Amino acid sequence: MVVGAIFAGGIGARMGNFDTPKQYLKLGTKPIIIHTIEKFFINPDIDEIIVLCPKSWIGHTCNLIEKSLGKTGRVSVIEGGATRNDTLNNALDYIDKTFGMDEDTIIVTHDAVRPFVTHRIISDNIKAAREYGACDTVVPATDTIVESLDSKQISSIPERKTLYQGQTPQSFKAKLLKEVCESLNEDEKKVLTDACKIFTIKNLPVKLVDGEVFNIKITYPYDLKVAQVMLEGADIND
Ligand code: CTP
Repeated sequence: MVVGAIFAGGIGARMGNFDTPKQYLKLGTKPIIIHTIEKFFINPDIDEIIVLCPKSWIGHTCNLIEKSLGKTGRVSVIEGGATRNDTLNNALDYIDKTFGMDEDTIIVTHDAVRPFVTHRIISDNIKAAREYGACDTVVPATDTIVESLDSKQISSIPERKTLYQGQTPQSFKAKLLKEVCESLNEDEKKVLTDACKIFTIKNLPVKLVDGEVFNIKITYPYDLKVAQVMLEGADIND
């Protein structure tokens, strides 16, 4: 079984729109989150979808989904967590309790605010997670990345050709991910905020999947403007 987990538990503080989390803002004619859910809904490789959102937004999210996809048993809406990692843990617990987990259970985790994900990216994630246990969607870094440990001076400039920018989806064998997350101590849980980083620290392989430059995350108001222009443009949204 392959489960898509759409992470919509954040409040979008950097978007500055405090009444409405950014995933519910309109992109074209429908909320950002609906664009994203639809990508997973029509992908034939995805069996079930879980949407994780703030508790007070569960009812609204169910209504939005029913309006765009009709009454469907394939999409569940549940509460996200206080941190992105808590949201991930809620997804894993729900999968375990509702569908059960075995070696073939794959979880494809994706930011609700990356509506331009493609079917190719989702399918490549599923293949890579099956083969390697974990994968991360990335694009090669285009800007030179400069490291500064004190925010004042450069500490180092890593070689650009070894650097990538992480996107989502991040996908895993769900049972393995649950075991690895449960093996963390409290201190590790505080610093290891990225599931792929947890795998890396535990010396487990994480396969790179090619992302797309246009698979942007809507973080700031500027990103929403860019997304509107992209939506109006040609073929990138196919
Ligand atoms: N997310 C989540 N649960 C959280 C925090 C974030 O599911 N506790 C989700 C967000 O809803 C978003 C994705 O993770 O779809 C990427 O996170 P980010 O862009 O940082 O979203 P926010 O946390 O909402 O943004 P901000 O940091 O500006 O508040």
